[in-house]
Amino acid sequence: MSGPVAPAPLPRAAITERPRPPPLLRATGSLTAAATGRIGGMVIGVPREIKAGEQRVALTGAGVRALCGAGHRVLVERDAGAGSAIRNDEYAKLGAEVTSVDEVWGGADLILKVKEPLPEEYPRMRDGQVLFTYLHLAPVPDLTRALVKAGVIAIAYETVQRADGSLPLLTPMSEVAGRLAVQEGAFYLAKAHGGRGILLSGVPGVPPGNVVILGAGTVGLNAAKTAVGLGADVSILDVNLDRLRYADDLFRGQVVTLYSTAYSIEQVAQRADLLIGGVLITGARAPLLVSAATIAQMKEGAVVVDVAVDQGGCIETIHPTTLFEPTYVVSGVVHYGVANMPALVPRTSTFALTNATLPYALELASRGVAPALRRNPALAKGVNIWRGRTVHPAVAHALGERATPLEALLG
Ligand SMILES: NC(=O)c1ccc[n+]([C@@H]2O[C@H](COP(=O)([O-])OP(=O)(O)OC[C@H]3O[C@@H](n4cnc5c(N)ncnc54)[C@H](O)[C@@H]3O)[C@@H](O)[C@H]2O)c1
Repeated sequence: MSGPVAPAPLPRAAITERPRPPPLLRATGSLTAAATGRIGGMVIGVPREIKAGEQRVALTGAGVRALCGAGHRVLVERDAGAGSAIRNDEYAKLGAEVTSVDEVWGGADLILKVKEPLPEEYPRMRDGQVLFTYLHLAPVPDLTRALVKAGVIAIAYETVQRADGSLPLLTPMSEVAGRLAVQEGAFYLAKAHGGRGILLSGVPGVPPGNVVILGAGTVGLNAAKTAVGLGADVSILDVNLDRLRYADDLFRGQVVTLYSTAYSIEQVAQRADLLIGGVLITGARAPLLVSAATIAQMKEGAVVVDVAVDQGGCIETIHPTTLFEPTYVVSGVVHYGVANMPALVPRTSTFALTNATLPYALELASRGVAPALRRNPALAKGVNIWRGRTVHPAVAHALGERATPLEALLG
């Protein structure tokens, strides 16, 4: 079945405004999970990530302490934190129940994850269960259909959006990915790694490498910081002149800012040793900015890192790769298309991500989902799927459907 499923009642724990636990219990982080579970809190599940190379986890010890202290029960899959160097006994000490994957998915009202569910996880999703994770649904309609079919409430980190347009749960991973894009690009520019044999900083008497960055958002500016720090020759392009003004002020003439057009991109690509794609149209497939013909005109051994590959990519010849096999070559140009780059530095990324997600997870758990969404418009923007209905306009558009307004579903 791929169409919308008939709305069924939500599990009470997921939707009702729940009573706040007594202050004494809330202030105590060391209560056992069984004790906190009995006071009417939500059950929160943290599965181990199973995507290839993914080592992040959606909750740290600080999160366990905060959620248990607020009266909730936290189920953490055994070894979920191992890749981020967080031990089972650390979670347990802070009040989590460290348990099996079946118990986590089967028992939780609210699942906290990092990456989207994979096909082997689809049968684990339950009607009315809340899934709070990165989803990036626009380029993967099959996953959207699976979420619709499962009847879950899917809240995507990447579309949680404040009134000023900022994306608080995408930002920390974009900061990591932007900085990594240059670090990884520099690695693959080495001859032994398939590249042109360029040291980005240059040396006295030899010019630095040329770095072109598409998009002056979070990824772009963080990439520029690292590239400027290395002493590279950096150009950054955007269609938003305010972003370019900001980059110009920030880097005080150390980067060249260019208005992004098909023509300007063709021109700069020919000079680039490292081309980084960091563009975004929120929720939508990334715009295709670099054609296969432009790639064919780039220097032999140049490297492209398309960070926007998680939204379909802005380079025609890019396809998603994994941390195990990050690159491939097209027209002599090394292509890097890792869709979960922050997983390369899971310890840093886990802490950066959970610093940002925890306040929202606490709000969902402590208020109940519907009240939290009514109260917090930024969080409401994160809802992509609500129990068989596609809510986010860009996600619905990618399926060729009309979105159902969330307000109509929240009542
Ligand atoms: N691969 C990964 O592991 C990874 C990790 C983090 C983020 N990302 C992705 O990186 C992308 C960028 O994220 P962000 O946080 O920097 O977004 P952002 O919104 O902060 O910045 C995107 C920028 O792209 C610009 N833009 C839009 N159309 C453009 C065009 N035609 N030419 C030039 N610029 C254009 C926007 O004006 C904006 O300044 C997203 O797709 C995000 O999901 C990927």
